[in-house]
Amino acid sequence: MYLRELKLINFRNYRESAVSFSQGINFVVGNNAQGKTNLVEAIYLLSSGRSYRTPVDSELLRWGADTLYIKGSVVENTGEKSIEIGIRGNNKSIKVNGVQLVKRGELFGNLTTVIFSPDELKLVKEGPSHRRKFMDQEIIQIKPAYYYVLTSYNKVLYQRNSFLKASMAGRFDTDILGVWDKQLAEYGARLIYYRQRFIKRLSGFAKSMHSKLTNGQEDLEVTYQCCIGQQQEESLSDIRSWFCGKLQSCRSRDFKTGVTNFGPHREDLGVSVNGIDVRKYGSQGQQRTAALSMKLSEIELVKSETGEYPVLLLDDVMSELDPLRQKYILENLARVQTFITCTHLTGVMKKRSDSAKVFHVNSGIITTEG
Ligand SMILES: Nc1ncnc2c1ncn2[C@@H]1O[C@H](COP(=O)(O)OP(=O)(O)OP(=O)(O)O)[C@@H](O)[C@H]1O
Ligand SMILES: [Mg+2]
Repeated sequence: MYLRELKLINFRNYRESAVSFSQGINFVVGNNAQGKTNLVEAIYLLSSGRSYRTPVDSELLRWGADTLYIKGSVVENTGEKSIEIGIRGNNKSIKVNGVQLVKRGELFGNLTTVIFSPDELKLVKEGPSHRRKFMDQEIIQIKPAYYYVLTSYNKVLYQRNSFLKASMAGRFDTDILGVWDKQLAEYGARLIYYRQRFIKRLSGFAKSMHSKLTNGQEDLEVTYQCCIGQQQEESLSDIRSWFCGKLQSCRSRDFKTGVTNFGPHREDLGVSVNGIDVRKYGSQGQQRTAALSMKLSEIELVKSETGEYPVLLLDDVMSELDPLRQKYILENLARVQTFITCTHLTGVMKKRSDSAKVFHVNSGIITTEG
């Protein structure tokens, strides 16, 4: 799929803009603080209904404006569709083909994006919460139902933790805890079920991507470090009963600490290169390349699950990669619509610019080169 056209009114530093994009590579070039990331953010907003930079929608309104409007025309195998987002104060409206959505979750899958910014380069280096977020965001794109399971799980987890905290102050009722446990196991088991299946597939794509990026020098292994300790794919009911058993055995610790010590919220992804844990022992470059392989592997995963390539958003990362990796991205993702922001086109990028579209951004005004 690709984004054919984008209209922005009062979004961040854009007053009013309309742009048509290339199906292939789109270079978005401009000095610092001109609106390059804002443009990427607008595209991401169309795919998820939310910014990745702020949870506060009103921050997206151009300063001094009270409403904003974004419209994207998305082309996929089955035809073209429109996605519209309007924000007025704290109210947000999302429409697909003119039909108002009731929940943000209904938007998922209409425009799939894979975003890669300097933050994602830290995917391997940083703590487990980054890798869990990575897992969750990517599964949501291919399995929108996962989003509801995740939010339900987090809600129950919050309630169970509140109950545990209150229990520390004296009230101690295992019957009530049992009610939370049942619900937590229900949603938790589903998260594990999807994660087991998803990571196995992603791992295969990441391995071959990494091999290409390193000229066959490095073997990348991404593994799911599941809280129930099982690695093979199990049935939902098996996972559920394992989960319940584990919760039971952790109870006294939970009551003592006032938090839930076990569950998908404590999981991680193992990342090794040639058998060595790169999260701990990898060089900076190895960690970045592993992160790049993991992110780029999502492209193939989304394609294999949905039949459509996602849109790739590379914000400020080209300059962080060596020319070899830059070249790989530019030459091997021909069928993927790609947005690349940068302050200037480097040598490898210039070579590709004849078949790409180049946009210049200056104080919220976009102009097309040529
Ligand atoms: N709500 C808003 N209304 C108006 N302007 C805003 C709003 N939010 C951010 N800006 C401004 O938008 C400008 C461009 O921001 P953006 O992050 O897109 O820059 P950039 O081109 O990606 O720069 P860099 O190269 O430094 O990453 C900034 O100067 C910022 O102050
Ligand atoms: Mg930026």
